[in-house]
Amino acid sequence: MITLGCRLGSHRVIEPKGALPQGAWKLDNTPHAYANEILCTVETLNVDSASFKQISDACGGDPQAIGAHILATVEKRGKQHNPVTGSGGMFVGRVRAIGSALAGRDDVAVGDRIASLVSLTLTPLHLEAVESVDTATGQVRVRGSAVLFESAIYARLPDDLPTDVALAVLDVAGAPAQVRRLARPGATVCVIGADGKSGLLACAQARERVGPTGRVVGIVPSAETPSAALLVEHRYVDHLAVADARDALAVVQLLPEALPEMADVVVNCVNVAGTELASILCCKDEGIVYFFSMATSFTAAALGAEGVGKDVTMMVGNGYAKGHAAVALQTLRDHPAIADYFIARYSRSS
Ligand SMILES: NC(=O)c1ccc[n+]([C@@H]2O[C@H](COP(=O)([O-])OP(=O)(O)OC[C@H]3O[C@@H](n4cnc5c(N)ncnc54)[C@H](OP(=O)(O)O)[C@@H]3O)[C@@H](O)[C@H]2O)c1
Repeated sequence: MITLGCRLGSHRVIEPKGALPQGAWKLDNTPHAYANEILCTVETLNVDSASFKQISDACGGDPQAIGAHILATVEKRGKQHNPVTGSGGMFVGRVRAIGSALAGRDDVAVGDRIASLVSLTLTPLHLEAVESVDTATGQVRVRGSAVLFESAIYARLPDDLPTDVALAVLDVAGAPAQVRRLARPGATVCVIGADGKSGLLACAQARERVGPTGRVVGIVPSAETPSAALLVEHRYVDHLAVADARDALAVVQLLPEALPEMADVVVNCVNVAGTELASILCCKDEGIVYFFSMATSFTAAALGAEGVGKDVTMMVGNGYAKGHAAVALQTLRDHPAIADYFIARYSRSS
């Protein structure tokens, strides 16, 4: 008999009944595929940066304690859904079984290595062990299984990039894809947290899109990182400003030099809380602030903009945009300096 689940995964929700998986507290993570599910053997989790930083801070940066923390969350919730940040990440694994109702799909086969493009906050995950935690990248080697629902999106891993590099890029694929849509020729784009994963890819897309008459400005907490140096050396930014984006007044003081006319588009790519107001203050009236960061507070953004009288359009950082995986991977291929940096930083032995 064929047992079909809900295409959105509600059949896996244990608590509270009637919820969808992302909003649920606990999922059924039984490693068995319903007829319209895909079961994967999981190799690596890419815990999203805001979540990983919170867990790492809570565990004093100790890899073993971080591993135990992740195991405990998954044990409690049936998914890697950080209750503090509310965010997750994604996984890389190998397809173990495809339910009979999905057997006709031509984009995936048993044995393929894929990256999930839906959040771990809604992915039933069963962990046997955490094998290692890379505190520099937030990538966690595990033994376990995950389930993808009928509605889930995923991507076959590309042949031309190391797995860990592809995982790092795909984790933040929404950022370059959205910047590609939002940045217009001649526009000024400001990327806050410009030297991180999403920040670098956002700067590369912004540079391409705004062209020679536009301007790209990066804000970073320190100019001393290799990725900050790369942004300047390879002219991804016209100006690199150093500031703690949690300090809105400090950012305002930078504006006359960094953004005299303010930005048409501000892209927030930081992994810490409390940067909403600085992002808003960098933006022109009627400009767009795109909050890719998972550490964004809706209330801080909405009330902050109102409080400073800024008529800006604020976008929640939807991690999905049509074709985002392809755009993100192509961004890396088209920008060898950024690709070299990602390979040096994220590639391990995969
Ligand atoms: N919307 C989505 O679907 C989605 C998907 C994946 C990730 N995310 C979120 O997107 C954000 C960025 O992710 P990522 O992987 O690109 O992170 P990342 O590589 O860790 O980069 C974070 C960046 O923020 C900078 N930063 C930290 N504190 C700062 C401060 N006080 N002021 C200015 N900049 C600061 C960091 O600078 P240093 O490195 O110099 O410290 C770094 O450049 C995170 O919040 C993550 O959770 C969202």
